[in-house]
Amino acid sequence: MNKIKRTLEKAMIEAGRIIQKANAKPISIEYKSPVSLVTETDKKAERVIIDIIKKNFPDHSILAEESAPSGNSKCKWIIDPVDGTTNFAHRVPACCVSIGYEEDGLVKVGGVFNPLMNEWFWAERGKGASLNGKKIRVSKVKILAESLLATGFPYDRRERARYYLKFIEEFMLKTHGIRRFGSSAIDLCYVACGRFDGYWEFNLQAWDQSAGALIVEEAGGRLSNFTGKPMSIYGKQTLASNGRIHEEMLRIIKKLL
Ligand code: IPD
Ligand code: CA
Ligand code: CA
Repeated sequence: MNKIKRTLEKAMIEAGRIIQKANAKPISIEYKSPVSLVTETDKKAERVIIDIIKKNFPDHSILAEESAPSGNSKCKWIIDPVDGTTNFAHRVPACCVSIGYEEDGLVKVGGVFNPLMNEWFWAERGKGASLNGKKIRVSKVKILAESLLATGFPYDRRERARYYLKFIEEFMLKTHGIRRFGSSAIDLCYVACGRFDGYWEFNLQAWDQSAGALIVEEAGGRLSNFTGKPMSIYGKQTLASNGRIHEEMLRIIKKLL
């Protein structure tokens, strides 16, 4: 596992450098769809990450946002080179490199690095989670009425705005507030370190949550889908919380599904 961890660290540092440098220059945006942006930095960072992994583990599989999947090994690297591209494109410093390392279908190591805020979240299965080297735990908030939640708006938000807004309305009425941060990996890490108490989102991809989900789990949080079953990073429903407010969140979500 040591070589895996070193490789993951190196890939995050190099990709982080690329994001940092690019942030100081003009950023040109391309559109995958009217609400899905990509920049040269997403592609450059992903190339560097994949090169580092391939150099160290040529036989491992790769699942990365900006490239076709490759390999059929049980050892898989799940990569989002820039999570929060819309923020990055608008120079909002809430974006990150997110990399999860999966073995036999289970994420074993995950790292989320926001180079613009210099925050490095990390977890290894069974060994806890940390922020910049310090152990982190989820919050102790017991009731929804005292919670701060986060969410994201999926890419079909223009077609299904009314539906997604029902969830926002309900949680808006029952909590301290809702944040729409624009990076699912950071949202999950904020649940892990107790800044947020819960987070829900529809239709994430594995690269949006492979590392963040492990970080939540290792920080003592709970993850499920919207019916309370175990959450899969390949599934379309993500609910993460400090555990204490999970059932309350589930009751509301189930009612609105
Ligand atoms: C997006 C962000 C956003 C979430 C979207 C993701 P990207 O990832 O995580 O918070 O709401 O669903 O696709 O495109 O910035 O890598
Ligand atoms: Ca993403
Ligand atoms: Ca991305």
